[in-house]
Amino acid sequence: MKVLVTGGAGYIGSHTALALLRSGFEVISLDNYSNSSLIALERVQQLAGKSLTIVEADLCDHSALQLLFHENPGIEAVIHFAALKAVGESTSEPLRYYKNNVGGSITLLEEMQKAGVNNLVFSSSCTVYGEPVRVPLIENHPTGSVSSPYGRTKYMMEGIIQDHCNANPSWNAAILRYFNPVGADKSGDIGEDPNGIPDNLVPFVTQVATGRLKKLKVFGSDYPTSDGTAVRDYIHVSDLAEAHIKAMDALQNNIGLLTCNLGTGKGSTVLEVIRAFEEVSGIKIPFDIADRRTGDVVEAWADPNFAKKLLKWEAKHELKEMLADAWNWQKKNPFGYQSKEE
Ligand code: NAD
Ligand code: WQD
Repeated sequence: MKVLVTGGAGYIGSHTALALLRSGFEVISLDNYSNSSLIALERVQQLAGKSLTIVEADLCDHSALQLLFHENPGIEAVIHFAALKAVGESTSEPLRYYKNNVGGSITLLEEMQKAGVNNLVFSSSCTVYGEPVRVPLIENHPTGSVSSPYGRTKYMMEGIIQDHCNANPSWNAAILRYFNPVGADKSGDIGEDPNGIPDNLVPFVTQVATGRLKKLKVFGSDYPTSDGTAVRDYIHVSDLAEAHIKAMDALQNNIGLLTCNLGTGKGSTVLEVIRAFEEVSGIKIPFDIADRRTGDVVEAWADPNFAKKLLKWEAKHELKEMLADAWNWQKKNPFGYQSKEE
């Protein structure tokens, strides 16, 4: 089966492209490398021992998408990762985020429609839930009280996809709400490679461990949690990639529209993450307690049962394994896909 993966060179896209190739899918990657490197795709091909079709193009470019579908007949589904994802940046550059994430996604849907491709997997986020009213988060928890333009692009796209599916009953779409993806492929050859100083906890911790960054700031120690730091549901990126393979099966069974969480169902505090990392790496992570970060929620973790039932999928990796794999990647690639500090 032939699948188009938008954002295929990115963190989750590259791990999913690898899982797809390993499962026998034919993969076409579309990426503009705005937040990724072609090297990731080269490594995916080496790891899989198979090649994929690589297209450099922008999601917002109608004619590039038209050409892609024309030159690659027989695409049956699209897994749509391509998006800008820096929460803070989205607050200072909202229009760029709406244009790329909403405009680009609409362009994709239009070109899929023209090409007769009507199976879609969309990368959404637990951010659509906003501050949880209750945890664990179940799919029918209210959505929309998002704290950033980035979050709103995900919320808007969920609604747009729903409307499009309602208007076009032959369409199937799986909207997947990821919790906090971390870790890397066991090989340590592909992994998370953020531009500049990482916003996210785990890449920050691994860069402190290599000495590239000096000290971690723990944002808030006065939350109403077991140790005062915020709780998140960290999920291994390879488990997430596997869920996309299961979603492809679901699309084949004409599911219509499906929305589900991808998490482990287990929350960990920031201090638990630091301690677990120190244990698996043998490296002490210096940190200071800082103020809460604007927009952060107290605790967010998934009820993963719907995914278990519908996709016949559940996460397998524990926190320590996720952190060991993140560390293996960072140790082997201290500057990510670059050979030295840029
Ligand atoms: P990433 O930045 O590593 O990957 C996104 C990829 O899309 C990059 O390779 C980037 O170059 C590409 N891209 C962006 N805009 C494009 C455009 N206009 N045209 C072509 N390519 C474009 O991010 P990721 O962590 O792999 O995230 C993948 C998806 O999952 C995104 O939609 C993101 O919003 C979503 N998501 C991520 C997380 C997370 O914490 N990583 C959590 C929830 C949801
Ligand atoms: C995790 C915890 C921080 C950095 C983000 C996006 C969300 C989704 C996933 C895409 C929080 C704390 C962090 C640091 C810290 N992405 N922290 N020091 O905020 O749960 O979610 O990624 O959809 O939309 O907002 O993830 O990794 O940034 O933070 O103390 O230097 O670690 O406060 O409690 P977050 P994160």
